[in-house]
Amino acid sequence: MNLLARKDISALQAELGADQSLKRALGPVNLVALGIGAIIGAGIFVLTGQAAAAYAGPAIVYSFILAGTACALAGLCYAEFSAMIPVAGSAYTYGYATLGELVAWIIGWDLILEYLFAASTVAVGWSGYVVSFLKDVGINIPPQYTSAPYTHTAPPGAGFNVWRLFTEGWSSTGAVLNVPAMIIVALVTILLIVGISESAKFNNLIVIIKLTVVFLFIGFGLAYINRENWEPFIPPAAGPGKYGWDGILRGAGVIFFAYIGFDAVSTTAQETRNPQRDMPIGILGSLAICTVLYIAVALVLTGIVKYTELNVPDPIAVGINAAGPGLAWLRPIVKIGAIAGLSSVILVMLLGQPRVFYAMAKDGLLPPMFARVHPRFRTPYLASALTGVAAMIFAGLLPIGLLGELVSIGTLLAFAIVCAGVLALRYTDPGRPRPFRTPLVPLVPIAGIAACLYLMSGLPKDTWARLVIWMAIGLVIYFSYGRYHSKVSR
Ligand code: ALA
Repeated sequence: MNLLARKDISALQAELGADQSLKRALGPVNLVALGIGAIIGAGIFVLTGQAAAAYAGPAIVYSFILAGTACALAGLCYAEFSAMIPVAGSAYTYGYATLGELVAWIIGWDLILEYLFAASTVAVGWSGYVVSFLKDVGINIPPQYTSAPYTHTAPPGAGFNVWRLFTEGWSSTGAVLNVPAMIIVALVTILLIVGISESAKFNNLIVIIKLTVVFLFIGFGLAYINRENWEPFIPPAAGPGKYGWDGILRGAGVIFFAYIGFDAVSTTAQETRNPQRDMPIGILGSLAICTVLYIAVALVLTGIVKYTELNVPDPIAVGINAAGPGLAWLRPIVKIGAIAGLSSVILVMLLGQPRVFYAMAKDGLLPPMFARVHPRFRTPYLASALTGVAAMIFAGLLPIGLLGELVSIGTLLAFAIVCAGVLALRYTDPGRPRPFRTPLVPLVPIAGIAACLYLMSGLPKDTWARLVIWMAIGLVIYFSYGRYHSKVSR
């Protein structure tokens, strides 16, 4: 029965009032900026082009609307929880309060896939843009120091064969380490340890830079749109996942990555001055702004360059090239914008992860050192440092394609569980005051769960297999440590 032990919400709220260790420094503008900081990144600067070229064509716009809708449904559920239980643990704690300890552990363990692995994945994207920018200004970094030593492609037909997935499909790249990726993770980690206000200020600055670049691209790109590039807007289906409706769906699964991060806002709830009011503003505000921008960027990009030419790692830069010499001045600016943009994604992801660890350690599910707060900086410094070191190792050494696809499936699972939690709590505890109420319950949470599962179903089998393996490792840890140290079930 202990597996179903739930955290009492009134006790949680009281505990929150007593725990003043983290510093309450954030207001609504900071929170919206943190959301945008986490959202706009590799998804739009790297993946959009590939998704348009390979799956959806100009109809990638519909993929953005589809994935954005799934996120909006989950976002509405996050908003209800984060205003009602504004704790650093975010989805992990919401799970604990509604669906019990085992589900809480599963979601906490799953969030590592989202935050830690996304930070590493985006750090590799950052490295790519920095290397290309430095090359433009005449500085060449030897390639063996700019990528991981191994790549991995799932062995065909391995399915759920764990042994084959682990032992086959590896090949050496001849590289040593991805040094730039490791450096950016280290720098961001130091900033995060030094303070939440410092981190938020740095993020605000970066968000201004990247929004400016996105606006410049949309504003100046408009004049270069050639409507013929949109013909046909939905290219006729050409096989499974290739164009047509199936391609729009596959595209939505891929560019879902572009939306990941609005939920990380909720991990700063304990550092927010007025979370009841500001959490929903931060989560829903950043999501709304980015959705509109994404749709506009996708329209302009597929309008100025034929989608078939977009299968490149820097689609926005290719779009600018296609517009001709009139826009050449924008090219270096876009690269700087992408580099800035990716840095803040890394920042917010590495901000979220240690706060989830902090909450798990306070509950006894992880060793107490994860909950240690620095006496002067008032940040969870040990958890931040450990997260940083792990993210550095992944970013420097591991084939990132392998981690990148795990990020999306892990996040979708977390979203689905949060939607289920909102639904459950409406029945088990209907009278509790909710500063923000998810509209149209049960429709919105149920549609949220369905949308997330639908997007998950479109992801490849080996990604599913890796999710199952990751969860199995998590359960072994839970049953050998967390279960015996859990404060709630004791
Ligand atoms: N949404 C983030 C990005 O696109 C993770 O990089």
